[in-house]
Amino acid sequence: MADRGLMAGAAQAPARVAVWDPVVRLFHWTVVAGVVLNLFVLEPGKTAHRTVGYTIAAALAIRLVWGFVGTRHARFADFFPTPRRLARYLGALRRGEEARMLGHNPLAAVMMLTLMALLAATATTGWMTTLDAFWGEKSLEEVHGTLGNAIMVLAALHAFAALFESWRHRENLVWSMVTGRKRA
Ligand code: HEM
Ligand code: HEM
Repeated sequence: MADRGLMAGAAQAPARVAVWDPVVRLFHWTVVAGVVLNLFVLEPGKTAHRTVGYTIAAALAIRLVWGFVGTRHARFADFFPTPRRLARYLGALRRGEEARMLGHNPLAAVMMLTLMALLAATATTGWMTTLDAFWGEKSLEEVHGTLGNAIMVLAALHAFAALFESWRHRENLVWSMVTGRKRA
């Protein structure tokens, strides 16, 4: 009897698979914490702000390498949004028939790559403000601040998209970014 109960339980519990490896998850939550600190908590340009900015840059550098040598869904080749993949996904989305994907879907992938590029540009312009060559250059600070604000706007959109997709597919994608696991 006990055995039957166990087997029935096993049959009902949906299988979970590992999707996001620890590097991806650590990268994600490091970046989230760092961006929130630099946008809303720390004083712009001060030592703490710079240290957090460089920490984000280091996490991003590791993530970029991981995009070539990491686990399956961490690889750029797994989710790179080619025009074909994107067009097909957008078509299906318009008809409300978009497939659920284990890795990043092509539209999410555009956002992932855009956010990564913005993070790199923000950290680079931040670092540039510390160079003698740009001493007192207000316009560079402005560019840096605008890039930071673009991250804020797009990240908010990205978080809403993650919640929306979680509702669409009846699964908690945010929690998956914590545990790394998703329904098979
Ligand atoms: C990627 C993470 C970063 C974000 C999201 C970020 C965001 C911002 C924002 C929103 C401002 C305000 C801009 C304004 O007043 O118009 C700012 C200012 C500044 N940031 Fe960053 N930043 C980051 C990384 C860095 C790094 C790595 C450095 C330097 C090593 C840096 C140095 C500065 C400086 C010097 C200012 C100008 C401060 C002032 O107005 O006196 N930031 N940052
Ligand atoms: C500063 C804010 C944020 C930034 C810059 C950001 C950036 C990113 C990036 C670059 C990825 C790709 C991860 C990778 O492939 O390594 C990602 C994925 C993801 N993020 Fe964020 N994120 C932010 C905030 C959030 C928040 C607040 C949530 C939760 C509501 C969230 C939920 C997710 C989820 C669920 C994924 C996986 C998406 C998928 O299933 O394809 N993110 N994020």
